[in-house]
Amino acid sequence: MRIEVVTIFPPMFDAVTHYGITGRAVDSGRLGLRFWNPRDYASDEYRRVDDRPYGGGPGMVMMAEPLAAALAAARKVAPEGTRVGVLSPQGRRLDHALVTELAQREHMILLAGRYEGIDERLLESAVDEEWSIGDYVLSGGELAAMVMIDAMTRQLPGALGNEQSAAQDSFVDGLLDCGHFTRPVEFAGRRVPEVLLSGDHEKIRRWRLKESLGRTWLRRPDLLADAKLSEEQTSLLEEFRREYVEHQEKQT
Ligand SMILES: C[S@@+](CC[C@H](N)C(=O)[O-])C[C@H]1O[C@@H](n2cnc3c(N)ncnc32)[C@H](O)[C@@H]1O
Repeated sequence: MRIEVVTIFPPMFDAVTHYGITGRAVDSGRLGLRFWNPRDYASDEYRRVDDRPYGGGPGMVMMAEPLAAALAAARKVAPEGTRVGVLSPQGRRLDHALVTELAQREHMILLAGRYEGIDERLLESAVDEEWSIGDYVLSGGELAAMVMIDAMTRQLPGALGNEQSAAQDSFVDGLLDCGHFTRPVEFAGRRVPEVLLSGDHEKIRRWRLKESLGRTWLRRPDLLADAKLSEEQTSLLEEFRREYVEHQEKQT
Protein backbone atom coordinates (compact mmCIF):
# COMPACT_ATOMS: atom_id res chain seq x y z
CA MET A 1 0.00 0.00 0.00
CA ARG A 2 1.31 3.44 -0.92
CA ILE A 3 0.12 6.55 0.87
CA GLU A 4 0.92 10.12 -0.08
CA VAL A 5 0.40 12.37 2.94
CA VAL A 6 -0.11 16.10 2.53
CA THR A 7 0.84 17.75 5.82
CA ILE A 8 2.62 20.81 7.16
CA PHE A 9 4.22 18.58 9.84
CA PRO A 10 5.91 15.60 8.11
CA PRO A 11 8.19 14.87 11.11
CA MET A 12 5.13 13.96 13.22
CA PHE A 13 4.88 10.83 11.08
CA ASP A 14 8.15 9.49 12.50
CA ALA A 15 5.83 7.77 14.98
CA VAL A 16 4.44 5.45 12.27
CA THR A 17 7.53 5.42 10.02
CA HIS A 18 10.01 4.20 12.61
CA TYR A 19 8.16 2.27 15.30
CA GLY A 20 6.34 -1.02 15.80
CA ILE A 21 4.19 -2.78 13.22
CA THR A 22 3.95 0.22 10.88
CA GLY A 23 7.71 0.80 11.08
CA ARG A 24 8.30 -2.84 10.12
CA ALA A 25 5.80 -2.54 7.27
CA VAL A 26 7.73 0.46 5.95
CA ASP A 27 11.07 -1.40 6.28
CA SER A 28 9.72 -4.47 4.47
CA GLY A 29 8.17 -2.39 1.68
CA ARG A 30 4.57 -3.42 2.47
CA LEU A 31 3.80 0.20 3.32
CA GLY A 32 5.17 3.21 1.46
CA LEU A 33 4.75 6.67 2.93
CA ARG A 34 5.66 9.89 1.21
CA PHE A 35 5.10 13.42 2.45
CA TRP A 36 4.12 16.57 0.64
CA ASN A 37 4.44 19.79 2.60
CA PRO A 38 2.15 22.60 1.37
CA ARG A 39 4.74 25.10 2.64
CA ASP A 40 7.04 23.91 -0.16
CA TYR A 41 4.35 25.04 -2.60
CA ALA A 42 3.53 28.39 -0.99
CA SER A 43 4.05 31.39 -3.25
CA ASP A 44 5.24 34.00 -0.73
CA GLU A 45 8.65 34.31 0.89
CA TYR A 46 7.29 33.35 4.34
CA ARG A 47 5.90 30.06 2.96
CA ARG A 48 2.49 30.91 4.39
CA VAL A 49 -0.22 28.31 4.18
CA ASP A 50 -2.89 30.02 6.32
CA ASP A 51 -4.78 33.29 6.29
CA ARG A 52 -7.56 35.08 8.14
CA PRO A 53 -11.13 33.92 7.51
CA TYR A 54 -13.37 35.97 5.23
CA GLY A 55 -16.24 37.28 7.30
CA GLY A 56 -14.07 37.61 10.39
CA GLY A 57 -13.98 35.39 13.44
CA PRO A 58 -11.28 33.60 15.39
CA GLY A 59 -8.42 31.50 14.05
CA MET A 60 -6.88 30.97 10.65
CA VAL A 61 -7.90 28.98 7.60
CA MET A 62 -5.65 26.80 5.41
CA MET A 63 -5.29 28.46 2.04
CA ALA A 64 -6.48 26.58 -1.02
CA GLU A 65 -3.56 27.36 -3.35
CA PRO A 66 -0.60 25.75 -1.53
CA LEU A 67 -2.76 22.74 -0.71
CA ALA A 68 -3.90 22.40 -4.32
CA ALA A 69 -0.28 22.55 -5.52
CA ALA A 70 0.88 19.96 -2.97
CA LEU A 71 -2.02 17.68 -3.92
CA ALA A 72 -1.23 18.09 -7.61
CA ALA A 73 2.38 17.05 -6.96
CA ALA A 74 1.22 14.01 -4.99
CA ARG A 75 -1.27 13.08 -7.73
CA LYS A 76 1.50 13.20 -10.32
CA VAL A 77 3.36 10.30 -8.69
CA ALA A 78 0.20 8.31 -7.90
CA PRO A 79 -1.63 6.13 -10.44
CA GLU A 80 -4.51 7.67 -12.38
CA GLY A 81 -7.72 7.65 -10.32
CA THR A 82 -6.04 7.58 -6.89
CA ARG A 83 -8.53 9.00 -4.43
CA VAL A 84 -7.86 11.93 -2.15
CA GLY A 85 -9.21 11.74 1.40
CA VAL A 86 -9.17 14.53 3.93
CA LEU A 87 -9.16 13.92 7.66
CA SER A 88 -12.08 15.82 9.11
CA PRO A 89 -14.35 15.63 12.17
CA GLN A 90 -17.19 16.07 9.66
CA GLY A 91 -16.23 12.99 7.64
CA ARG A 92 -17.46 9.40 7.62
CA ARG A 93 -16.56 7.84 10.94
CA LEU A 94 -13.92 5.12 10.77
CA ASP A 95 -14.78 1.67 12.04
CA HIS A 96 -13.41 -1.80 11.42
CA ALA A 97 -15.46 -2.32 8.26
CA LEU A 98 -14.29 0.95 6.70
CA VAL A 99 -10.66 0.35 7.68
CA THR A 100 -10.80 -3.12 6.08
CA GLU A 101 -12.33 -1.66 2.92
CA LEU A 102 -9.74 1.14 2.69
CA ALA A 103 -6.86 -1.27 3.35
CA GLN A 104 -7.67 -2.98 0.01
CA ARG A 105 -6.62 0.13 -1.88
CA GLU A 106 -3.16 0.10 -3.37
CA HIS A 107 -2.67 3.83 -3.32
CA MET A 108 -4.27 6.77 -1.55
CA ILE A 109 -3.64 10.40 -0.80
CA LEU A 110 -4.38 11.71 2.70
CA LEU A 111 -4.75 15.38 3.48
CA ALA A 112 -4.25 16.57 7.06
CA GLY A 113 -5.87 19.86 7.97
CA ARG A 114 -4.82 22.39 10.61
CA TYR A 115 -6.11 25.64 12.13
CA GLU A 116 -9.88 26.23 11.88
CA GLY A 117 -9.96 24.04 8.83
CA ILE A 118 -9.38 24.13 5.07
CA ASP A 119 -10.78 26.59 2.53
CA GLU A 120 -14.07 25.00 1.46
CA ARG A 121 -13.33 25.51 -2.25
CA LEU A 122 -10.29 23.24 -2.01
CA LEU A 123 -12.42 20.54 -0.38
CA GLU A 124 -15.06 20.86 -3.09
CA SER A 125 -12.63 20.85 -5.99
CA ALA A 126 -9.82 18.49 -4.99
CA VAL A 127 -11.05 16.03 -2.34
CA ASP A 128 -13.01 12.83 -2.97
CA GLU A 129 -13.69 11.59 0.56
CA GLU A 130 -13.70 12.77 4.19
CA TRP A 131 -12.82 10.52 7.12
CA SER A 132 -13.23 11.15 10.83
CA ILE A 133 -11.69 9.17 13.68
CA GLY A 134 -14.45 10.11 16.11
CA ASP A 135 -16.85 12.73 17.37
CA TYR A 136 -14.34 15.10 18.95
CA VAL A 137 -12.02 17.74 17.52
CA LEU A 138 -8.26 17.38 17.25
CA SER A 139 -5.87 20.24 16.60
CA GLY A 140 -4.78 18.73 13.32
CA GLY A 141 -5.31 15.85 10.91
CA GLU A 142 -1.87 14.31 11.45
CA LEU A 143 -2.80 12.17 14.45
CA ALA A 144 -5.99 11.11 12.71
CA ALA A 145 -4.03 10.17 9.56
CA MET A 146 -1.63 8.12 11.70
CA VAL A 147 -4.55 6.33 13.34
CA MET A 148 -5.84 5.41 9.87
CA ILE A 149 -2.40 4.35 8.65
CA ASP A 150 -1.83 2.16 11.72
CA ALA A 151 -5.25 0.51 11.55
CA MET A 152 -4.98 -0.15 7.78
CA THR A 153 -1.46 -1.54 8.11
CA ARG A 154 -2.71 -4.22 10.53
CA GLN A 155 -4.90 -5.47 7.67
CA LEU A 156 -2.06 -5.77 5.13
CA PRO A 157 -1.06 -9.37 4.42
CA GLY A 158 2.04 -10.33 6.41
CA ALA A 159 2.26 -7.04 8.28
CA LEU A 160 1.70 -8.61 11.70
CA GLY A 161 4.16 -11.46 11.16
CA ASN A 162 3.45 -15.14 11.76
CA GLU A 163 3.31 -14.95 15.49
CA GLN A 164 0.41 -12.54 15.56
CA SER A 165 -2.92 -12.47 13.87
CA ALA A 166 -5.44 -9.72 13.37
CA ALA A 167 -8.14 -12.37 13.16
CA GLN A 168 -8.77 -12.40 16.91
CA ASP A 169 -8.75 -8.63 17.35
CA SER A 170 -11.86 -6.88 18.57
CA PHE A 171 -14.48 -6.09 15.87
CA VAL A 172 -13.02 -8.50 13.28
CA ASP A 173 -15.84 -10.98 13.80
CA GLY A 174 -18.19 -8.42 15.30
CA LEU A 175 -17.12 -9.22 18.88
CA LEU A 176 -14.69 -7.81 21.42
CA ASP A 177 -11.46 -9.73 21.98
CA CYS A 178 -11.15 -11.88 25.11
CA GLY A 179 -8.73 -11.02 27.94
CA HIS A 180 -5.07 -12.01 27.67
CA PHE A 181 -2.70 -13.33 30.34
CA THR A 182 1.03 -13.90 30.59
CA ARG A 183 3.54 -14.84 33.34
CA PRO A 184 3.49 -14.97 36.29
CA VAL A 185 0.69 -17.46 36.99
CA GLU A 186 -0.35 -15.39 40.02
CA PHE A 187 -0.46 -11.60 40.23
CA ALA A 188 -2.10 -9.37 42.85
CA GLY A 189 -3.78 -12.43 44.38
CA ARG A 190 -5.34 -13.44 41.04
CA ARG A 191 -4.52 -16.63 39.18
CA VAL A 192 -4.52 -17.12 35.45
CA PRO A 193 -7.74 -19.00 34.54
CA GLU A 194 -6.89 -22.72 34.93
CA VAL A 195 -8.15 -23.63 31.46
CA LEU A 196 -5.35 -21.56 29.90
CA LEU A 197 -2.79 -23.71 31.71
CA SER A 198 -4.46 -26.97 30.68
CA GLY A 199 -2.86 -27.35 27.24
CA ASP A 200 -6.27 -28.49 25.91
CA HIS A 201 -6.57 -26.40 22.72
CA GLU A 202 -10.26 -27.09 22.14
CA LYS A 203 -11.20 -26.15 25.70
CA ILE A 204 -9.08 -23.01 25.41
CA ARG A 205 -10.74 -22.06 22.13
CA ARG A 206 -14.21 -22.44 23.64
CA TRP A 207 -13.23 -20.52 26.77
CA ARG A 208 -11.86 -17.64 24.71
CA LEU A 209 -14.92 -17.54 22.50
CA LYS A 210 -17.20 -17.53 25.56
CA GLU A 211 -15.20 -14.71 27.17
CA SER A 212 -15.30 -12.76 23.96
CA LEU A 213 -19.08 -13.14 23.69
CA GLY A 214 -19.57 -12.32 27.37
CA ARG A 215 -17.46 -9.21 27.23
CA THR A 216 -19.28 -7.99 24.17
CA TRP A 217 -22.61 -8.58 25.92
CA LEU A 218 -21.44 -6.66 29.01
CA ARG A 219 -19.53 -3.81 27.35
CA ARG A 220 -20.91 -3.40 23.84
CA PRO A 221 -24.38 -4.95 23.58
CA ASP A 222 -24.92 -2.83 20.47
CA LEU A 223 -22.41 -5.06 18.63
CA LEU A 224 -24.30 -8.20 19.60
CA ALA A 225 -27.54 -6.73 18.30
CA ASP A 226 -25.99 -6.71 14.80
CA ALA A 227 -24.17 -10.06 15.09
CA LYS A 228 -25.36 -13.31 13.53
CA LEU A 229 -24.32 -15.86 16.14
CA SER A 230 -23.67 -19.51 15.32
CA GLU A 231 -25.32 -22.25 17.38
CA GLU A 232 -22.13 -22.71 19.37
CA GLN A 233 -21.82 -18.97 20.02
CA THR A 234 -25.46 -18.73 21.12
CA SER A 235 -25.06 -21.54 23.62
CA LEU A 236 -21.73 -20.20 24.95
CA LEU A 237 -23.27 -16.78 25.42
CA GLU A 238 -26.21 -18.36 27.26
CA GLU A 239 -23.73 -20.19 29.50
CA PHE A 240 -21.85 -16.95 30.18
CA ARG A 241 -25.03 -15.06 31.02
CA ARG A 242 -26.24 -17.81 33.37
CA GLU A 243 -22.92 -17.93 35.20
CA TYR A 244 -22.76 -14.16 35.35
CA VAL A 245 -26.25 -13.84 36.84
CA GLU A 246 -25.50 -16.62 39.36
CA HIS A 247 -22.29 -14.86 40.33
CA GLN A 248 -24.10 -11.52 40.75
CA GLU A 249 -26.76 -13.15 42.91
CA LYS A 250 -24.09 -14.69 45.15
CA GLN A 251 -22.48 -11.27 45.60
CA THR A 252 -25.71 -9.71 46.94
C1 LIG B 1 -9.19 22.17 14.75
S1 LIG B 1 -9.64 21.07 13.47
C2 LIG B 1 -10.86 21.97 12.59
C3 LIG B 1 -12.23 21.62 13.06
C4 LIG B 1 -13.34 22.38 12.31
N1 LIG B 1 -13.34 23.77 12.68
C5 LIG B 1 -14.67 21.75 12.67
O1 LIG B 1 -15.18 22.05 13.76
O2 LIG B 1 -15.17 20.92 11.91
C6 LIG B 1 -8.24 21.08 12.41
C7 LIG B 1 -8.03 19.82 11.59
O3 LIG B 1 -7.89 18.71 12.44
C8 LIG B 1 -8.33 17.53 11.79
N2 LIG B 1 -9.31 16.86 12.67
C9 LIG B 1 -9.82 17.37 13.81
N3 LIG B 1 -10.66 16.51 14.39
C10 LIG B 1 -10.67 15.39 13.62
C11 LIG B 1 -11.35 14.15 13.70
N4 LIG B 1 -12.19 13.86 14.68
N5 LIG B 1 -11.11 13.23 12.73
C12 LIG B 1 -10.26 13.51 11.71
N6 LIG B 1 -9.59 14.69 11.59
C13 LIG B 1 -9.79 15.62 12.52
C14 LIG B 1 -8.91 17.95 10.46
O4 LIG B 1 -7.94 17.69 9.45
C15 LIG B 1 -9.14 19.45 10.65
O5 LIG B 1 -9.05 20.15 9.43
